[in-house]
Amino acid sequence: MMCGIIGCISGENCYEKLLSSLARLEYRGYDSAGVCLLSEEGVLRVRKKKGYVSNLAGKRLAGGAGIGHTRWATHGKPSDENAHPHLCGKFALVHNGIIENYAALKEELLAAGEVFLSETDSEVVVRLLSHAYRGDFLGAVREVCARLSGSYALAVLCSDFPGEIVAARKGSPLVAGAAKGALYVCSDVPALCGEAEFLCPVEDGEFVVLSDAVRIYDAQGRQVERAFSRVKSEQRAASVAEGTFMQSEIAQIPRALRDTLAGLEDTDFAPCARALRGAKRVWCAACGTAYHAALSFADLLAEEGFCDVFCSTSSEFRYKTPLIGEKDVFVAVSQSGETADTLEAARLAKSRGAYLIGITNVADSSLSRLVHFNIAMRAGPEIAVAATKSYNAQLVCLFYLAAQMLFFKRGAVPGWAGEMVSLPEKAEECFRTFGQMSALAAKLRAAKGMFFLGRNADLPTALEGALKVREIACLFAEGYPAGELKHGSLALVEEGFPVLALSTREALFSKTENALAEVRARGAYAVLLSQSEEVLSRSCADCKVLLPQVCAPLMPVLSVLPLQYFACRMSLLRGMDPDKPRNLAKSVTVE
Ligand code: F6R
Repeated sequence: MMCGIIGCISGENCYEKLLSSLARLEYRGYDSAGVCLLSEEGVLRVRKKKGYVSNLAGKRLAGGAGIGHTRWATHGKPSDENAHPHLCGKFALVHNGIIENYAALKEELLAAGEVFLSETDSEVVVRLLSHAYRGDFLGAVREVCARLSGSYALAVLCSDFPGEIVAARKGSPLVAGAAKGALYVCSDVPALCGEAEFLCPVEDGEFVVLSDAVRIYDAQGRQVERAFSRVKSEQRAASVAEGTFMQSEIAQIPRALRDTLAGLEDTDFAPCARALRGAKRVWCAACGTAYHAALSFADLLAEEGFCDVFCSTSSEFRYKTPLIGEKDVFVAVSQSGETADTLEAARLAKSRGAYLIGITNVADSSLSRLVHFNIAMRAGPEIAVAATKSYNAQLVCLFYLAAQMLFFKRGAVPGWAGEMVSLPEKAEECFRTFGQMSALAAKLRAAKGMFFLGRNADLPTALEGALKVREIACLFAEGYPAGELKHGSLALVEEGFPVLALSTREALFSKTENALAEVRARGAYAVLLSQSEEVLSRSCADCKVLLPQVCAPLMPVLSVLPLQYFACRMSLLRGMDPDKPRNLAKSVTVE
């Protein structure tokens, strides 16, 4: 399951701490939630419900140790029964991940007379624990984990051990945390940052025991020394300054760009100089919005004639990599650094000997620890499920990386790199388009669907604009290369159908205009976004949006801004919550 888990040992207010941690996990997307508290007398008290974390409020559950969960259903529908924690005998358990051999294990347990109360794969684990237990809590968890295949982050309570939690990790994220009077394990660094003052990553195959201290053990049961690092200010959880998180995060884009650029200036790229200079091929893999950023990077490197560049969604990467090997550079882009498909693609690239570069927004994420060289975006915590400011920051990191690559190969940075410093200010200028985009959203709110068009460097931006509208406004929207429409999709264009086109490349102005003329001739409502006043004045478009001026290669960082805002307005006008899109989770930790 793609869920959030939390475990907390606390002198006081454990129940309240669990609920506030679960509220911090809410942004990841979920459909049910639950907590279980263990009292000093060894009594397990559970409350779990379909729906929001707020449904768990009520009479305080007593206990100084507790576990909590937000569930995003995979095995079994959202229901009170399928919600975690799951209980069996002396044990209560929360689980994030997927137990791939759960069917065989379940059959074995059914044959032994076990009765299951839920449809989840996770319940298998708590029942196995109850069977394996002979008085050694950590021993039982280790024994059961050795039988599991798939991915998991687990937190477990045992009524014989009040004041103790055992947690385990394989393939799903887990971090330990400490604050005055409280110890934590959690699946999510941003969610823990508001609670814990110190953090410590847990590696795959490790076990954690929380009691009077945090103790970490390797798969062989040997205690591992691990340093805690203080939570950095940029890791602290965000608060909403304006309306929804998404509105706030769009408003933060200039600051995110400023912080990211400052971080890049402080980054020493020398350790990867050799790999970049000698790169035979560059491969990029990412998902969703991050994939669109990777596409822009690949386009830029290809345009500069750097070397062969291949870009793929992470889930498809493994089918497209017959040639990846030593001397190749693999770039993985992920806001969370925890996306399972991207991690898998990175592991595959690493196993073939490629040099790995990661671009992540979360310090100490799994990806940042897997790669040879990590580039930190400093967009700040992104809480809204739909990515906005992290996309702009990803583009800046990727373009900066491209400039470094060109520098290492040719001894000179490209001319456009010098203009990156103006991006935060130019992003602020983009806010001037918001009035117009708001009016456009009001006009198009009842549309049945829409197209976004772009050619060359504008195509990833068109794809991103369409993705944003699909996910948060729940409206059919597709992004196409402007030249492709007449090869099929033009059939969908009818009277009033909205078509939003981007045109930021001078050499392609007239070609994109041709595409607009084609759709307009079929009755479409045409919108054109460009930084060229001349192109706008000559265009047949019904609505024309003037973008700020910046050199062409950097345009994608800015041209997406009006589209991000437009999607957010569409979502609000259509009565939706842009922070919590239907069926979606922030961090997709299952393949
Ligand atoms: C869309 C969105 C997703 C993510 C994708 C990858 O708005 O947010 O498409 O971009 O799930 O997530 P990360 O970047 O965390 O790997």
